[in-house]
Amino acid sequence: MKKQFLSVSLIAALTLGTAGATTALAAPHSSPVLSAPSSDKQVIKRIDADKIYKNIEYLSQTPRVAGTDSEYNAVQFIKKQFKSYGYKADIEEFNFLSYTDPNLVELSVAGFDGEIQANHLTYSVNGNLSGEVVYAGLGTKEELEETDVAGKIALIQRGSLTFAEKVLNAAEKGAAGVILFNNADGELNGTLGEDNDKYIPSVTITKKDGEALLEKLNAGAKLTASLKIEGAYSGEKTSYNVVATKKATKNNKAKKSDIIYITGHHDSVAGAPGANDDASGTSVTLELARVLKNLPTDTEIRFVTFGAEENGLLGSQHYVTNLSDDDDIKRTIANFNLDMVGSKDAGDLVILTNDGEMNLVTELAQASSTRLNGEPTPYGQGGRSDHVSFAEAGIPAALFIHSPSEPWYHTPDDTIDKISKEKLQDVAEIVGTAVYDQAKIEAKKPDPTHKKGKKVKVPHLFEKEFR
Ligand code: BES
Ligand code: ZN
Repeated sequence: MKKQFLSVSLIAALTLGTAGATTALAAPHSSPVLSAPSSDKQVIKRIDADKIYKNIEYLSQTPRVAGTDSEYNAVQFIKKQFKSYGYKADIEEFNFLSYTDPNLVELSVAGFDGEIQANHLTYSVNGNLSGEVVYAGLGTKEELEETDVAGKIALIQRGSLTFAEKVLNAAEKGAAGVILFNNADGELNGTLGEDNDKYIPSVTITKKDGEALLEKLNAGAKLTASLKIEGAYSGEKTSYNVVATKKATKNNKAKKSDIIYITGHHDSVAGAPGANDDASGTSVTLELARVLKNLPTDTEIRFVTFGAEENGLLGSQHYVTNLSDDDDIKRTIANFNLDMVGSKDAGDLVILTNDGEMNLVTELAQASSTRLNGEPTPYGQGGRSDHVSFAEAGIPAALFIHSPSEPWYHTPDDTIDKISKEKLQDVAEIVGTAVYDQAKIEAKKPDPTHKKGKKVKVPHLFEKEFR
């Protein structure tokens, strides 16, 4: 082991120049971090996990749903932190359409014993109605043509069409509401995908309940259902990105400097304080802004926390779309996106790219993790966060996350007591030294001598269903 670390640092030292060489040749160290080049040490000695932890603690006092006052408060806090490190921070505002879940969903069917548990479909409209239940198969146009659903409640089975297509087909024939039943065991967490003023009130029920209703109808029973959905709301909201820029300290006049982004998202889902998702990434982004502030670089570094990530990467999409093609985008060489980087209860650090391939970000981070920990951080394929917006614009981007995820993901238990300072320190070191390695004056290409980390498969998590 010792020998391997030494040879890594020696080769690193030889490619990294005198400062590194002095350190590495001075004495054979037993710990890789001690033999890291002095530029790494400049970063590492400044990182303070207590500061990261305190910022997470502050941010995770409440959920920070995009478009709410608590997001706005978080944004003001982030701006204030950037300013306290000496940055001029900007808040960028953008509008988006969002759906607020109903606070009441009720379904009762006369002539049917037992409670039926109904869930709303996301983007369903409110309503309070009752009507005869009629079966309309899979809810295709043809089936609805043959069924008299006008003023009635269409009972439709899941399958082949999207939920939205089924609801619109029923609405077109004058149905008053839709009950959609699952075609597999378990609850259905469905979405209509987007807002549409042609929708009628729509709920989902289990396969078991749906088949029981159908059986009664087939036996000739007349069923009348009452359906109530209250408190759902679709409307325009405002969210924010916070941006702080460290200009290159030394600039080649003939050529504009490269740009590196370090990013996280400050919003959370409803009901979740989001200590790990993603006050952790936001707070590591803040800390790296503080740490790198006075280190000399020939590369511009931009620190951004995005809003409305949880609504579909909206903040980063808005941000990247508004970058100018031939200036900002061409100059950008990397996006280090930090999302869920501090949970005690999650697995090890992985680096995920949208296409599953290595790029400058994974190379720089594998080189730095090898220098610091003796092993390259594994990489794999993964989307689901703001690096996707950068990758889609052709920018080398990657997500830093621990895998598998903690059980508290998107729950009220995503709280500060589950945060590990060691994990925060480790991620901040790997990302901070990777960025500085590239951005420091006379930066070298990533050290090609470290061995490529292993490719990992990341477990797929539950997502909302459209069909
Ligand atoms: N931090 C998560 C993404 C995540 C969680 C990635 C677990 C890998 C493992 C992110 O904030 C999130 O929840 N994203 C949404 C998707 C987004 C496009 C709305 C998700 O994964 O459901
Ligand atoms: Zn997240």
